[in-house]
Amino acid sequence: MENEGNNDGSENPVAITGSGIDTDGGESLQIGSEIDTNGGESEEKQIGSEIDTNYGGESQQIGSEIDTNAGESKEEQIGSEIDGGEREEVQTVSETDADFRKMFGISIPRQNIVVENEEAKADIIRRRRKDCDKGFFSNYDDVTVHRNMIQDTHRMEAYNSAVLFYKDRIEGKVIVDVGCGTGILSIFCAKAGARKVYAIEASQMALHAKSIIEANGLSHIINVLHTTVEDATIAEEVDVIISEWMGHMLFQENMLPSVISARDRWLAVGGLVLPTSATLYMAPFSDSQRYHQKIGFWSDVDGIDMSVLIPPTTSVVCRFPSVETVEHDCLLAEPHQVIMVDMYSITSSDVDLITTSFRFHSRRSALLHGFVLWFVADFSDEAVHHDERDSIEVESAPALSTAPDAPSTHWEQTLLNCPDPLHVEEDQVIEGILTIKIDESDHRLLRICLNYGLDGELIELETQF
Ligand SMILES: C[S@@+](CC[C@H](N)C(=O)[O-])C[C@H]1O[C@@H](n2cnc3c(N)ncnc32)[C@H](O)[C@@H]1O
Repeated sequence: MENEGNNDGSENPVAITGSGIDTDGGESLQIGSEIDTNGGESEEKQIGSEIDTNYGGESQQIGSEIDTNAGESKEEQIGSEIDGGEREEVQTVSETDADFRKMFGISIPRQNIVVENEEAKADIIRRRRKDCDKGFFSNYDDVTVHRNMIQDTHRMEAYNSAVLFYKDRIEGKVIVDVGCGTGILSIFCAKAGARKVYAIEASQMALHAKSIIEANGLSHIINVLHTTVEDATIAEEVDVIISEWMGHMLFQENMLPSVISARDRWLAVGGLVLPTSATLYMAPFSDSQRYHQKIGFWSDVDGIDMSVLIPPTTSVVCRFPSVETVEHDCLLAEPHQVIMVDMYSITSSDVDLITTSFRFHSRRSALLHGFVLWFVADFSDEAVHHDERDSIEVESAPALSTAPDAPSTHWEQTLLNCPDPLHVEEDQVIEGILTIKIDESDHRLLRICLNYGLDGELIELETQF
């Protein structure tokens, strides 16, 4: 999906540290979020998450979350009312935090709510999820978002080949297409001989999918369900689940739990999930040209020293991950596997919080400008191949790689840019820890914490996507 950027031209420190969600302990549940009103300038291709939280019908941008410091004496009240009549705990911030909020243009606070019982708590969580989803699905009402995906030939070829590869497991079978969009994957399956396809789509694109399927004479096979996967009912077991759920750096948009939910409710024993697995990778990169173009050029603008603008520009560039194409030659080391998602065994809680420690040996002496992330979705099914290898004519199942050395895709790669380039020597170790966490109050938002450095001294970069 194409996400418009959270852009902020404010002059602020780059590494936002110490954020997180306070846990109240006991019965209390905190489900608020901080909102960035974000009046700054735009930076091309800066990616933030723009989500309609729908409090009072207003559309707002989710921004950074800063720790509140309850110990400070001078406090500014920032609480606001929550609908539903729950007992509310007003959140306060210290003077320091208030300054910080001003610096980042954060005007609307997260909210602490104390609820009396589990049922009320679950109800609030459900409502909040629906609010987040409203914005998420409305992005997919936009036909240009689907055009970008349909025009991504590498993506399309991978899915089309996967369907053909598993033709013998699709012919005469029942399929679920999780998030069918225009209905393209359902149509691939119908053309491969599926007996029935449930094409589930929550956005308004479902209406177009229906028309496309009618126009292609496939309505007797494909049944479009205009609803969320979570709310859909299917009164039979299915043989195959197909979905294109992968976001930037695999997890952006957090659609994977919907596929897991479909698998757990409907997939027959021995059924097939496409893709069968997906793996997220990361590697350090050096790209002086990119750095110069975005930041470094200020030091000499036609002989004029404008380097005073480097810190605020750095702040904008590093505030959010960016989606860009990186040359393979820019990678400083062999990639590190962040996580491999096995679509048969993964659970939603497995991806709520992903932590990986990395240790790269730099290939050369260079400036470290950041870390690049990408995924590979795999369509091979070892168990199936083992039993049926003889009947499969194609040599190996397709894979969809979004790596720097693979054909370009609309996902490109995701960059976590370092505020200050670090000089690394050949063979020097770049080490650290990457944490990716689903935001507790907005399940479509990723909280990313990167600690990286050389020789044991780590720099912390917090961002969100
Ligand atoms: C990345 S797009 C893929 C669309 C289409 N399958 C394709 O390959 O072109 C994901 C689609 O899934 C839909 N979607 C995501 N989560 C969903 C859910 N829980 N229930 C129904 N639709 C969902 C989105 O609205 C979007 O249209």
